[in-house]
Amino acid sequence: MHGSDFIPPILMRALLQLIEPSRLDFSTTKRDLAGVARLMPRDDENRTFARFDPQWEAEPTWNQGSALQRLAAKHKPSKRAHNYIARYALHFDPIRESVKSVVEIGVQRPNSLLMWEEYFPNAVVHGIDIDPACKAFAGDRRQVHIGDQKDVTFLRRFIGQTGGNFDVVIDDGEHSEQAILTSFAWLFPALQSHGIYAVEDLIYTPNARSIFRSLEEHINYWPRGFPGGDWPYLHEFDQAATWLDRNIVGLHFYRYLTIINRGYNPEDNPYLRSERPKTA
Ligand SMILES: C[S@@+](CC[C@H](N)C(=O)[O-])C[C@H]1O[C@@H](n2cnc3c(N)ncnc32)[C@H](O)[C@@H]1O
Repeated sequence: MHGSDFIPPILMRALLQLIEPSRLDFSTTKRDLAGVARLMPRDDENRTFARFDPQWEAEPTWNQGSALQRLAAKHKPSKRAHNYIARYALHFDPIRESVKSVVEIGVQRPNSLLMWEEYFPNAVVHGIDIDPACKAFAGDRRQVHIGDQKDVTFLRRFIGQTGGNFDVVIDDGEHSEQAILTSFAWLFPALQSHGIYAVEDLIYTPNARSIFRSLEEHINYWPRGFPGGDWPYLHEFDQAATWLDRNIVGLHFYRYLTIINRGYNPEDNPYLRSERPKTA
């Protein structure tokens, strides 16, 4: 079945269930964090933590002089002010040449599309925006699609027309719970098998943040009854594993920015041993 007309029911069900605010309970989180704080050195115990140093303020060392940093300085997209560029350089530099298609939800100005177009030399850059005026920013390898990121009909049509299989999706659009989660439900499965999905400005959307945090449980899926010591032989999950268990391999939280890696879980690990030992 083509990715464009298929939304894994398990993904949709899980997302819809989790959107309910009643399911959110932060009490455990708070308790756990308090526990960590108790383990840390007290203020009067001569902490060894690095203190803020103004000379490091401009950029983390790994981003100083990076190609993306230079292009961000040239094109000045709004995400530069949010300091996401250093994070993106970490994730995108290794795949820069191989990326064929990028989607950015939220265009507003030509700046960000121009930056991605120059940074990914072999990619078509698809911008999505609800504002028809953004159509004017199409050209060269930049395409602009006018529609609402909350509108499933629009998303289906967009995936169908472009063929999906995106290498990178960046959500910098409406920044509401519904917008973030609807777009994720449709565009994450439309990524190519090792694509990268980024969501910006996760500030006022606790449900979306909570759902993204919960993806960790899918990455760390353990088949019921699988012997504990046999993880080097864990080539494939059991029947109970969901689509999300099998298709998410990485989850990164930066301030207000979350990045999720699609991949084959657990088959992506090339160092798995081939034969599972006999168990009694
Ligand atoms: C923060 S701006 C994008 C900035 C741009 N990505 C950059 O880095 O310079 C957000 C854009 O999202 C668009 N937008 C808001 N709600 C939307 C929706 N429901 N669907 C699609 N686009 C939306 C707005 O029209 C606006 O142009």
